[in-house]
Amino acid sequence: MRFTDNDKECKVYIVGAGPGKLDLLTKRAEKIIEQADVILYDELIGEIKEFIEKNKADAILVDVGKRSGKHKKSQEEINQLILDYAKKGYKVVRLKGGDPFIFGRGGEEVEFLAEHGVKFEVVPGITSAIAVPTKAAIPLTHRKFDPALVFITGREAKERINWRALAELNATIVILMGVGKLKENCKKLIENGKTPETPVAIIEKGFSKEERVIVGNLENISEIAKNKNVKPPAIIVIGEVVKLREKLKDFLCFMD
Ligand SMILES: C[S@@+](CC[C@H](N)C(=O)[O-])C[C@H]1O[C@@H](n2cnc3c(N)ncnc32)[C@H](O)[C@@H]1O
Repeated sequence: MRFTDNDKECKVYIVGAGPGKLDLLTKRAEKIIEQADVILYDELIGEIKEFIEKNKADAILVDVGKRSGKHKKSQEEINQLILDYAKKGYKVVRLKGGDPFIFGRGGEEVEFLAEHGVKFEVVPGITSAIAVPTKAAIPLTHRKFDPALVFITGREAKERINWRALAELNATIVILMGVGKLKENCKKLIENGKTPETPVAIIEKGFSKEERVIVGNLENISEIAKNKNVKPPAIIVIGEVVKLREKLKDFLCFMD
């Protein structure tokens, strides 16, 4: 299906692929993918990659995935590619891991499109920040524990996190892209008043066959992670809720 320049319909769809399981892709995302002429997809889309390779062989599939430090394409190149395909009249899907607006640079992509007068739709996805801990039997909120939930990036472009405020907040902290700076960030939380015994879980490669859950506390988790050779992608959960995993993990089922 193609649109012309005169079409009023959206040309670009910024689509959240969810945490990588096909049946956690939204119905809307699936419908839009089915109609796409071009799909520019990220690395962290799990089973959805096989799905598009199998079912969208007729579309132009572009792997623009990038991993920490090893960029396949810069954000500027990706923006330009989306624009170029849209200008050609293609129905373009930009398929992103999790939710496009949760540390996914979807915000920058839609800004760029708006600046170039291109209409877009954003399809929310289930973010790994929530889904991955859930799958690991960690409820991110629980009335017995912290009354707030904070999502942060472990890799800030500029140092703007107020670690003192964060440490004092009584919040469960979820860190994305946090493996590289795990040691530094745990140290900052302790230095700013968080108890060293605060439980921490790292969930590596959530929803994949290689999924691992590593548990410790603020003081020892970086050493444990180093010994176990933990690698990205991983979600880090800091807070008392992590303790619940021990009670729940043997009873939590996940149907494949
Ligand atoms: C650039 S962010 C994108 C987040 C994405 N927009 C989302 O909503 O899930 C990439 C980070 O998400 C987390 N992540 C994504 N998929 C994951 C998975 N399957 N298992 C563990 N962490 C994951 C990791 O922290 C990774 O470094």
